Amino acid sequence: MHEPASVLALLPHGAGIVDGMLSVGGCRVDDLASRFGTPLYVYDDGTLRQSAREVLAAFRPLGARVSFAAKACEVIRVLRVFEEEGLDLDAVSEGELEAASRAGFDPDRIHLHGNNKAEEELARAIRCGLRAIVIDNVDEARRIVRLVGNQPVQVSLTMRVLLPVEAATHPHLQTSGERSKFGIPVESDEAREFLDLVAQHPSLRLISLHTHLGSQIADVDVYTRAADDLLQMAARLSARGSPLQEISLGGGWAVAYRPGDPSLSARDVAAALAPLFGDCSWRLAVEPGRALVARAGVAIYRVGSVKQSGSRRLVAVDGGMGDNPRPALYGARYSALPVSRPMSTPLGPTDVVGRYCESGDVLARDVFLPAMRAGDLICIPMSGAYQVSMASSYNLVPQPAVVLVGASRANLAVRRATVDDVLARDVP
Ligand SMILES: Cc1ncc(COP(=O)(O)O)c(C=O)c1O
Repeated sequence: MHEPASVLALLPHGAGIVDGMLSVGGCRVDDLASRFGTPLYVYDDGTLRQSAREVLAAFRPLGARVSFAAKACEVIRVLRVFEEEGLDLDAVSEGELEAASRAGFDPDRIHLHGNNKAEEELARAIRCGLRAIVIDNVDEARRIVRLVGNQPVQVSLTMRVLLPVEAATHPHLQTSGERSKFGIPVESDEAREFLDLVAQHPSLRLISLHTHLGSQIADVDVYTRAADDLLQMAARLSARGSPLQEISLGGGWAVAYRPGDPSLSARDVAAALAPLFGDCSWRLAVEPGRALVARAGVAIYRVGSVKQSGSRRLVAVDGGMGDNPRPALYGARYSALPVSRPMSTPLGPTDVVGRYCESGDVLARDVFLPAMRAGDLICIPMSGAYQVSMASSYNLVPQPAVVLVGASRANLAVRRATVDDVLARDVP
């Protein structure tokens, strides 16, 4: 059983209990739920900034470039916080490029990822002069050559390298190793073809090598192995005259969703990489997503029913896999707290289930909650990453609102969708 105090420690920094109610960023969560409705995603400005500062501080001695992987949370107000804190940005779509631009990121602080980028995305990247386009395959490089044509532009490229390094994580979160769909296999015909293409085309410049091993990785050794492989490759390319500047090791550092879960801090990653990059010709780059936002966000749900089913107590809430598909996608596990009197002694194990018509719609299995009644509020900590950004309108349920809190004030960041929003593209 997780003690309530250990679950409280997963909340954003400065969260607390005011008059028996959970508070985040100086705002009582029950007040936020009344004002903005539920389900509600609450992000704490102070925790976002603290996370950004910790990661930047950890990598500063290495002179590394740190980007935020926007896919973890594309809310413009959140991106703006990271822009202000000095992070660069990793985007994967035209939508993310537009969100980044609205958040104030200059194009030369953005790189574009993706294993099958649309032509319009590549055209936009070339037009606005992004810092780099990360190349996943030769077809994409050929498409860029065609789009550039005779224009007098320079396009900076990063080569996403598929290494044989496999990280220990859920198979759906692995993005390296033999079965991965991402990147150009090292020392392959595809790699040679890509390098020849770059060498032949004066508009193209290969400035960095990149790999991203996967997500929720708690073992730092895979990063040093991947770095070793990329550094050797960079040395070979440099000997052939490639003007490489950077080696990017992606993101993927694990966060603890429940008390006691393994995690990997920015400081641990930086310490492990320091011997390799301390005195090196190439600058290190990293692009964490989850590690920068997971803790800053909490999900708030209202209980609709409580029932006993055999030995199981089921607490049904007004959200679920529509706003958080992670448990159904890859068995993600969470803890939970009541918003009112969060330190109450828990009863037996409870499943917090969602409102969607799928048996896999279980938000948090076997969590310890006190007696709950219809109308009570539940808080799921560590909800800041890959929830709002993965939310769907399955069952035609509108997506939740998002608020940003800090200094006892709450600002709406994303309004709750309406049924009209959800049906807006339907052509009856
Ligand atoms: C290329 C790339 N970089 C960075 C990330 C961020 O990973 P995480 O949020 O686990 O740090 C991802 C996540 O999918 C990714 O695909």
